[in-house]
Amino acid sequence: MFNYSYNHVLFVFLLIQVSLSTATTTSYIPSIYTPTDDQKDRLKQDVKDMFYHSYDGYLNNAFPMDELKPISCSGSNTFGEYALTFIDSLDTLALMGNMSEFKRGVDWIIDHTNFDTNKTVSVFETNIRVLGGLLSSHLLAEILLKPTYKGELLDKALDLGNRLLPAFDTPTGIPYGAVNLKYGVPINETTITCTAAAGTFSLEFGILSKLTGKSEFEKAARKSIKSIWEFRSELDLLGNHIDIVDGEWTIKESGIGTGIDSFFEYLFKSAIYFDDQEYMDIFLASYKAIIKHVKKESWYVDVSLNKGAIIWPIYNSLQSFWPGLQSMFGQVEDAMGTIKAFHSVWRRYGFTPEGYNLISGQVQHGQKGYPLRPELVESLYYLYQTNKDPLFVKMAKDMVWTLNNVTKVECGHANIKDVESHSLDDKMESFFLSETCKYLYLLFSTTSTIQDNNNVGDSDDSDDGDWFKKLNIIFNTEGHIFPMQYRFFEKSTDSSNNINSKEKENADKENIQQQQQQVGDSKKVKEFEWICKPMPYLRTISSGPFQFIGGYQETEWYEDKKILDAIAEFK
Ligand SMILES: *[C@@H]1O[C@H](CO)[C@@H](O)[C@H](O)[C@H]1NC(C)=O
Ligand SMILES: *[C@@H]1O[C@H](CO)[C@@H](O)[C@H](O)[C@H]1NC(C)=O
Ligand SMILES: *[C@@H]1O[C@H](CO)[C@@H](O)[C@H](O)[C@H]1NC(C)=O
Ligand SMILES: *[C@@H]1O[C@H](CO)[C@@H](O)[C@H](O)[C@H]1NC(C)=O
Repeated sequence: MFNYSYNHVLFVFLLIQVSLSTATTTSYIPSIYTPTDDQKDRLKQDVKDMFYHSYDGYLNNAFPMDELKPISCSGSNTFGEYALTFIDSLDTLALMGNMSEFKRGVDWIIDHTNFDTNKTVSVFETNIRVLGGLLSSHLLAEILLKPTYKGELLDKALDLGNRLLPAFDTPTGIPYGAVNLKYGVPINETTITCTAAAGTFSLEFGILSKLTGKSEFEKAARKSIKSIWEFRSELDLLGNHIDIVDGEWTIKESGIGTGIDSFFEYLFKSAIYFDDQEYMDIFLASYKAIIKHVKKESWYVDVSLNKGAIIWPIYNSLQSFWPGLQSMFGQVEDAMGTIKAFHSVWRRYGFTPEGYNLISGQVQHGQKGYPLRPELVESLYYLYQTNKDPLFVKMAKDMVWTLNNVTKVECGHANIKDVESHSLDDKMESFFLSETCKYLYLLFSTTSTIQDNNNVGDSDDSDDGDWFKKLNIIFNTEGHIFPMQYRFFEKSTDSSNNINSKEKENADKENIQQQQQQVGDSKKVKEFEWICKPMPYLRTISSGPFQFIGGYQETEWYEDKKILDAIAEFK
């Protein structure tokens, strides 16, 4: 029943195939291009080179500052002065099989990071990038760095979590957007925040609570989500910006991209990761409303919260995660149309601009950049897991080519300032290493042969990240890897509070042993048993009646030659 070589793909796929057995793949005709494993290996090597060129560029020129400036070969502290890019890169190193560097990173963080600083940081970014990075490295170190690792990263994560928590002390429970790591919420901090920044904590805070027994994190994350859901419109739509004091929407536009994206992603992923029906119910209602009001043919637009009227007919780059999310619960055909539409924009410019106007068929004024974003390849990766259509390899190859040909500079890879002129910015986002390279690498790593590597638990530098194929995992919205945990599936939510610490320690040990055993011997994999499920009717609503509106650009499938010429022009 379980195909072990792909069991890292969310178990959800299996769940979906069971509940929607006739739905996903039957009418599906794969495309003709068939990459050989050799070709995929070469692409995988290209991605590895891209990663190391940038990672080493960061180490040599910017570390321990937050970000690399890849053109001037220097660094800058753009976030909280917490070696952001370093923390963000660690699990990618482990994935690429570089255990010695992963271990060095873990040790460095244990010895050097200090969050007791007078720094005002974004609560959202710090959560997904740094707290997410620490928790991921912690969960992986438990498995990969036995027996020397003693759980120190969890202490760091708890310390950081405690510093973010004051932001949630608001009348609605929706957090402030920024917090000072040492002094709490700054005086006169704005009370306006975006929906994504209000609802993207449930995975990290949930894990932190489960691992430490301190339930306040999980409760804060849940309260914020439920609170924001209370303020939904009659159409079950959410706005883009909200006042955390009175819950008034200050931007009354609803969509799936900028400012709201990961709110939906976390509802679904947390529902699956913790088997949580409450999150699933909110997700299902939101999904239904989005398909009904926000989807227009293969594209998604921004509509008014209360009436569902179109406000911005714009594809924005951050929407690109959506088809991947859809594929996780079986909406593959629906996702196919959308990924083709989105990818056609990539092929036209060599990149996806932050905004592309669907009516004019042009880059939206003021939204010309491409800051090395991962969302498109993230979706390609998920979709490729569902049906192995080589089309996705081809699409991802387009991405590797333009990333290599255009964004590669002396010390790393640089943001695109303008997708039309291909001019560059002296900036490299940390998510290029934690997400863009990771999803590309994973996509090309999927081979058609079942690998049976039994010594994976004792990972060393030679195993090329094979441990990964033996785990059930979920990614946070920064691409951080969270292995599924049996210990999180205990039904009673408050048990972590009452259990004494000795019992908890034993339970943890047992879990880690189970996990190591799972990694070591795939035949003994214990299956997760979900109670909470996405519902079969999801498929029906996704093919429901769309409002047809004229003026939209036909999705054009650009020929290879066009993109090659376009690239050549800028070489
Ligand atoms: C691991 O990463 C370090 C730093 O980039 C590099 O020097 C080393 O060669 C890498 N090791 C492997 C096995 O890739
Ligand atoms: C914290 O940093 C801010 C901005 O750099 C500075 O104005 C303030 O004086 C600092 N506060 C303390 C207590 O050091
Ligand atoms: C906060 O805002 C009030 C009213 O605008 C102002 O009088 C006060 O000086 C501000 N405080 C700080 C620390 O900026
Ligand atoms: C750059 O693009 C060309 C096609 O124009 C492709 O053949 C080549 O492999 C690309 N180079 C890299 C390093 O990806």
